[in-house]
Amino acid sequence: MKITIENLQLRYGKFTAIDNMNLEIGDHESVVLLGKSGCGKTSTMRCIAGLEEPTAGRITIGDTVVFDAEAGINIPPHRRNVGMVFQSYAVWPHMTVFENVAYSLKVQGLGKAETANRVHEALELVGLEDFASRGASLLSGGQMQRVALARSLVMRPDVLLLDEPLSNLDARLRDRLRIELREIQLQLGLTTVYVTHDQQEAFALADRIALMQNGVIVQMNSPSAMYLEPASAQIAHFLGVSNVHPVTAGASGTYTVTDTDLTLASAGLEPVGAGELHACFRSEDIRLSSTGAPGANSWRGTVRVSSFQGSTIRYAVEVASGMPDLDILAPLSAAERFQPGDSVWVTMDAGAVQILPQDAPLIQERAGVAA
Ligand SMILES: Nc1ncnc2c1ncn2[C@@H]1O[C@H](COP(=O)(O)OP(=O)(O)O)[C@@H](O)[C@H]1O
Ligand SMILES: [Mg+2]
Repeated sequence: MKITIENLQLRYGKFTAIDNMNLEIGDHESVVLLGKSGCGKTSTMRCIAGLEEPTAGRITIGDTVVFDAEAGINIPPHRRNVGMVFQSYAVWPHMTVFENVAYSLKVQGLGKAETANRVHEALELVGLEDFASRGASLLSGGQMQRVALARSLVMRPDVLLLDEPLSNLDARLRDRLRIELREIQLQLGLTTVYVTHDQQEAFALADRIALMQNGVIVQMNSPSAMYLEPASAQIAHFLGVSNVHPVTAGASGTYTVTDTDLTLASAGLEPVGAGELHACFRSEDIRLSSTGAPGANSWRGTVRVSSFQGSTIRYAVEVASGMPDLDILAPLSAAERFQPGDSVWVTMDAGAVQILPQDAPLIQERAGVAA
């Protein structure tokens, strides 16, 4: 079911946690709210669920206006048909898995047979069909989150809200549950809003990512477009681009790294937005060689650190005094390997270099790369 958020504002006293947010989530769509801790993700969720009363704006779920500050509409949480799963394991330890999942149906007064059917259906979806009679206190963290998810799904919500549901789990389990969650979301065609600060999780689960900073959505895109075309140097850095350096624009699409004589060429889009320009390039897009010639995107450097990471080797290379070392990721299969102290040439394609403003202009959708 479609969710429309218009001009949403939420203040805690004088502090503005959500600032004039506009967001439309399509029917069956999975939107991930991604951003650093404190940027307003949970607050947004709580407004959709009805657990928080916004100071301004309107929220519509399907055809129902569930909140409208001006019209004085505020439908309580239990009448919004919204399911929620939180970071903490919200299961009742003294009940069995079955009882946990059946609880809300019982409150609704659903018959025994129908309840059993729906509980088993939900447990099957989350892979806990063999655990119905187990005491909830005997479950692992991952299983508890499955119970929490089943408890939401059994209510057949129009909308599912998930707030960092995997962040208390260990990395391997997180990876697996992430894929299972995506499968369930697609299988049921559920409209979901998923909150996380982890970009890998966002990439894996989203149809579209809404990237938040300081209570504002600064970029909204498909995962691949977000990865390929971050709107600002800050966003690029947040999304794992490890080489971000201030530059000064020179003649016809060339740039100089500030306070150095290193020159850059970029085949990216013309930068738009406010603030100092930065060159952003990914560690895996830089090549190292023992031979080379000076020029744009071809610099001389000295290896300072070389660390073996399995399928890759990570190098820290100094290219100019006073400039942070470049972060370079070379495949283990690269023709040459280098040691600290080695003199090297660093090169990259113009297509790998993005020139971006420090701050994002408030563009909700950037044209360009499609999913
Ligand atoms: N009940 C509250 N009272 C005052 N400030 C709050 C309250 N809840 C959250 N905040 C503040 O609002 C901001 C956004 O919080 P939150 O939505 O929880 O962020 P996130 O989920 O992105 O980490 C934070 O700066 C937080 O400290
Ligand atoms: Mg939060």
